[in-house]
Amino acid sequence: MSKQFDVVVIGGGPGGYIAAIRAAQLGFQVACIDEWKNAAGGPAPGGTCTNVGCIPSKALLQSSEHFEHANHHFAEHGITAKDVKMDVAKMIARKDNVVKQNNDGILYLFKKNKVTFFHGRGSFAGKAEGGYTIHVAGKTEESITAKQVIIATGSNARALPGTPFDEVNVLSNDGALRVGAVPKKLALIGSGVIGLEMGSVWRRLGADVTILEGLPTFLGAVDEQIAKEAKKAFDKQGLKIELGVKVGEIVNGKKGVTVNYTNAKGEAVVLDADKLIVSIGRVPNTIGLNAEAIGLQLDERGAIVVDGDCKTNVPGVWAVGDVVRGPMLAHKAEEEGVAVAERIAGQHGHVNFNTIPWVIYTSPEIAWVGRTEQQLKADGVAYKAGTFPFLANGRARALGDTTGMVKFLADATTDEILGVHMVGPQVSELISEAVVAMEFKASAEDIARICHAHPSLSEATKEAALAVDKRTLNF
Ligand code: FAD
Ligand code: NAI
Repeated sequence: MSKQFDVVVIGGGPGGYIAAIRAAQLGFQVACIDEWKNAAGGPAPGGTCTNVGCIPSKALLQSSEHFEHANHHFAEHGITAKDVKMDVAKMIARKDNVVKQNNDGILYLFKKNKVTFFHGRGSFAGKAEGGYTIHVAGKTEESITAKQVIIATGSNARALPGTPFDEVNVLSNDGALRVGAVPKKLALIGSGVIGLEMGSVWRRLGADVTILEGLPTFLGAVDEQIAKEAKKAFDKQGLKIELGVKVGEIVNGKKGVTVNYTNAKGEAVVLDADKLIVSIGRVPNTIGLNAEAIGLQLDERGAIVVDGDCKTNVPGVWAVGDVVRGPMLAHKAEEEGVAVAERIAGQHGHVNFNTIPWVIYTSPEIAWVGRTEQQLKADGVAYKAGTFPFLANGRARALGDTTGMVKFLADATTDEILGVHMVGPQVSELISEAVVAMEFKASAEDIARICHAHPSLSEATKEAALAVDKRTLNF
C-alpha cells in the first residue's frame, strides 16, 4: 500500500519547503519531494534560490565587493593593501559551502518539523480515493497519496532562440555562478536583476563587462529617478550598459562567443567575448510533473493558472512561487507557501501583493516597495514626493558610501505612503521599515515622527518622510 499523507508538496525551493514546514506546524502529515542533486548526487533542497539563485549570487557579490574595497577603498582609510589577488576557485568553493550550509539547514528543518522528505522527481499518476497519487522517481521508485497537493516546481532560465545554454561559453544563472576564472571580456544579454548582479560580480573581479538590453529604458520597473541615479553609478564603475539593442546572430565558437547586434543608432556591431551570460527572464517549470494526468490548467507562458488564493482548477491542488503568476521572488514564494498551508487548515492566509519588496543587490543597492512615480501618474493619483540624499547622512559619510537617496511617495490628501524607493548603501535592509509602514497603512508623517537611531542610514528614511512635508532637518 502506498504511503498516505495529508499534504504533499512537490518542489523544495522557498515556496515548497516553507509550505511543508508551515503545514506540519499546523498538525498535518506532510511530505516534500525535491529532485535537486548536489555534486555528489545527494539531496540539495532549497531550489533555485539556495542552489543557483539568491544565496550563491549574494555570496559572490560579497566576495567581489571585498575585493573591490581592498583595491579601491582601503587606501582612503589609511590601509595599504598591495598586490591584492583573487583566488576564484577559493571564492567559488566558499560559495558552494554557503549553499551546502543552507541545503543542510533545510534537511534539519524537515526533521525537526517531522516533514517526510523524498529525494526524486514527483509526478502525478492520477486521482486516488480522497486525493491524488504521486509517483516519486529517485534512487528508488514509489507512489504516495495525498489529500492536498501543493505544487512549487519553480522556474528555469529562458534561453535565446537558437542559442542553447552549454554552461561553458553560453551561461544561464547556473553557469554564471561557477565560472572558473575571471573572463577578460564578458557579455550579458538582459540588464535586468541577474544581468546587473552577475555583471557587477565579474566587473569587480576585473572583467570587461558589456550588458546588452533590448528595451530603450534602463530598469523600466524601477522609479525613473532612482533608475537614473543607479545608472550614473554603474556608468562610473565602468559597467557598460547598452540600451535599445537588437540582438542578432550569436556564434558559440571554440575560443568564445560572438554576439552580433544592432545598437540604438541602428549600427551593426560585433561583440567578441570569452563568456556570454543570457539573463532575459525565466520560464515557469512544470517539466516532468505530468500535469495532464489530473487536467491541470496552464497558461500560454506555461505557468499554472491559480486564483488569488493559489487554488488551481483542480480541487485540492494548489500552486505557489515562480510556477504561478506574479513576481519571481523567493519571499513572494514563501508568503504564498505559508498562506496556502493556512488555507488548507481553514485559516485565512494573507499575501499582500502591494507590499512585496524588491531588492537588487548591486552597489549601490536598489530597493523599493509600492508604486513608482510613473505608475502614480499613469493611475492619475495625486501624490507628494520627498527625497533625501545619502550625501547628507552622517553614517553614510562615515561609511564612505554616500551614493543615492531615499524617496517617499505619499497620497496628496491623506499622506498615506504609496511607494518608497531607495538607491544607496544597505537599502536592502532599510526597505523593511517602508514595508512595515505600508502594511500598516502608515502616513509619511508617521515615519517622520518616529525616533530613528543616530547615526544610522535609517535616518535618511526619516528625513525623506520629512521631505514629503518639505521640512528636512539635515538637508
Ligand atoms: P524554486 O526555487 O525554483 O524551487 C523549485 C524546486 O522544485 C527545485 O528544487 C526543483 O528541482 C524542484 N522540482 C521541480 N520540479 C520537480 C518535480 N517534478 N519533482 C520534484 N522536484 C521538482 N529572489 C529573491 O527574492 N531574492 C534574490 O536575491 C534572488 N536572487 C536570484 C538570483 C538568481 C541568479 C536567480 C536565478 C534567481 C534569484 N531569485 C531571487 C529568484 C528566486 O530564486 C526564485 O523566485 C525562487 O527560488 C522561487 O522559489 P520556488 O520555490 O517557486 O521555486
Ligand atoms: P529580468 O526580467 O529581471 O530581466 C530581463 C531583462 O532582459 C529585461 O530588462 C528585458 O528587457 C531584457 N531582455 C529580454 N529579452 C531580451 C532580448 N532578446 N535581448 C535583449 N534584452 C532582452 O530577468 P532576469 O534578470 O533573467 O532574472 C529573472 C528573475 O529572477 C527576475 O525577474 C527576478 O524575479 C529574479 N531575480 C531576483 C533577484 C533579486 O531579487 N535580487 C536577483 C536575480 C533574479
